[in-house]
Amino acid sequence: IDFAEMDFTATVLLLSAVAVPSFADNAASKARSCSDVRQFYSGKGFTLHGVPQSEISGEHLRVCPQGYTCCTSAMEETLSNLSRREFEGLVREAGRSVQASLNAQYRNVDTYFLELLDGSERWLEESFQTALGGLYGPNAGVFRDLYADLRRYYRGASLNLEEALDEFWARLLERLLKASAPATAPFTDDFLECAAKQTETLQPFGQAPGELKTKVARTFIAARAFVQGLTVAGEVVRKVSQVPLSPECNRAIMGLMYCPHCRGLGMLKPCANYCKNVMKGCLANQADLDSEWENLIDTMLQVAASFGSNPSMDSILHSIPVHVSEGLRTMQENMEIYTSQMLQACGNPESTQSSLTVEGKKFSTVTVLEYKPSSNAAVRLEVQITDVSSKLKEMDMYWIQLPQALCNSKAAPSPASDDNCWNGMTKARYLPQVIGDGLASQINNPEVDIDITKPDMTIRQQIMQLKIMSNRLKNALNGNDVDFQDNSDDVSGSGSGMCTDGLCSHSGPRINSSGDRTRISAYPSENKASGTVRQAHPSIALVLLSLTSVLLRR
Ligand SMILES: *[C@@H]1O[C@H](CO)[C@@H](O)[C@H](O)[C@H]1NC(C)=O
Ligand SMILES: *[C@@H]1O[C@H](CO)[C@@H](O)[C@H](O)[C@H]1NC(C)=O
Repeated sequence: IDFAEMDFTATVLLLSAVAVPSFADNAASKARSCSDVRQFYSGKGFTLHGVPQSEISGEHLRVCPQGYTCCTSAMEETLSNLSRREFEGLVREAGRSVQASLNAQYRNVDTYFLELLDGSERWLEESFQTALGGLYGPNAGVFRDLYADLRRYYRGASLNLEEALDEFWARLLERLLKASAPATAPFTDDFLECAAKQTETLQPFGQAPGELKTKVARTFIAARAFVQGLTVAGEVVRKVSQVPLSPECNRAIMGLMYCPHCRGLGMLKPCANYCKNVMKGCLANQADLDSEWENLIDTMLQVAASFGSNPSMDSILHSIPVHVSEGLRTMQENMEIYTSQMLQACGNPESTQSSLTVEGKKFSTVTVLEYKPSSNAAVRLEVQITDVSSKLKEMDMYWIQLPQALCNSKAAPSPASDDNCWNGMTKARYLPQVIGDGLASQINNPEVDIDITKPDMTIRQQIMQLKIMSNRLKNALNGNDVDFQDNSDDVSGSGSGMCTDGLCSHSGPRINSSGDRTRISAYPSENKASGTVRQAHPSIALVLLSLTSVLLRR
């Protein structure tokens, strides 16, 4: 953990004594001067009005041990409030350093992933643009939409990734069909609808759509869950770090921080175990985050490791153009069978029966793209994974190390056996044992009086958020996107927050036939034209064939 490097100036200030010479000890018989306390008190920015010149009897004290004191009731309350503000500030400060680390990792991973995705898109554009020339422009939207959907999905949009990929192939097929019809006699919508319906049985793109789906979807589900994990972890830290101190904790913190001053022992440091018990009592609910927090970190480490395992993330993102080119080659190879079967099912489009002609019979073989990752790319991925993993491991024990970290400072390294420390009452050895972590262990905390039957609700909710996120990540490791699962288990259903706008329905693809994004895959599987089997028109096959070969020539 990075605590050593954190800015603990405030802690040092908090726990260290004000190092001014004291004449108190050898003046026990007389009323001692309050000059040390006055100096300390005004140094904190408070007015000296009403602060005694010499010690007074302390029956009025409500938190600090009674006895001769320089603190009035008002001073005790003021210092108690100050101790609360300072302690809450320290907890927030510690949380901010963890949040900052998580944010930095989010930016790193996010930048890296989007760079890979941009690279994949550029490669696809360049390959297909060179091949298509003027034909690419009108059809570029199909590919751009694919990448736009992938980006939106990765960003957390409620979008069904598998449906989006299906839709891409459907629209690609539609474009290919449309392009094969002459401009003077375009295919009717009925014909295109029917052709789309045949996709499932005829599989014009062969295995490519299925391969794209399994490989690419898995990586996107994992990447999306991973960056969500970084975000959720940061949010949990932020919310938990803002939980206010309980009044019981405030008393204990006051006793730890400022009662020594009221007792005229401001130069003493708190005993180490005394400090631990106060902090463990005050941060008991926070410590209960530990097991789910570690669980989340462990799962994120597994997901991070999966990015590097073969096939690595960069080759998977670059496999998108590869699978698209494979699909088009399959179409080219099976063109004749495909078109004859399609025309059998859908009939000959009437408008084109006589006018469809073949423009150019170039039967060049489709080249399937091939991605060879550079050694540079492999190194970059490795660095990414190592970096994020080591940062995550550093914060693995955050919640149970926090009490110790707050006590640890150069100012308070007193061994348990030390007699020369503030034990909450006086300058003497602290005898009680150090108690355990978490709320249930606080039943015998000698310093903080907590009701262990009343857990902090904010923190309970954050523990639930951690559970939900771990569950999402574990599903992602198996290639499952819990947002789109029908059988959600106990935790994924509530409060996952990713699927709140009603767009996550599990029904079939939404039909929206306006504009460019016509979804031709969305029609029910009734076959209107199956009764009338007409003779296949061979020329469609030839046009499609020449188009795909143009598409794939590099
Ligand atoms: C201490 O804090 C309490 C609660 O916020 C407030 O009501 C009270 O006025 C404060 N007292 C002093 C002396 O600042
Ligand atoms: C359909 O798409 C158009 C734009 O192409 C959009 O304005 C409209 O809201 C969409 N309808 C639905 C139901 O998604």
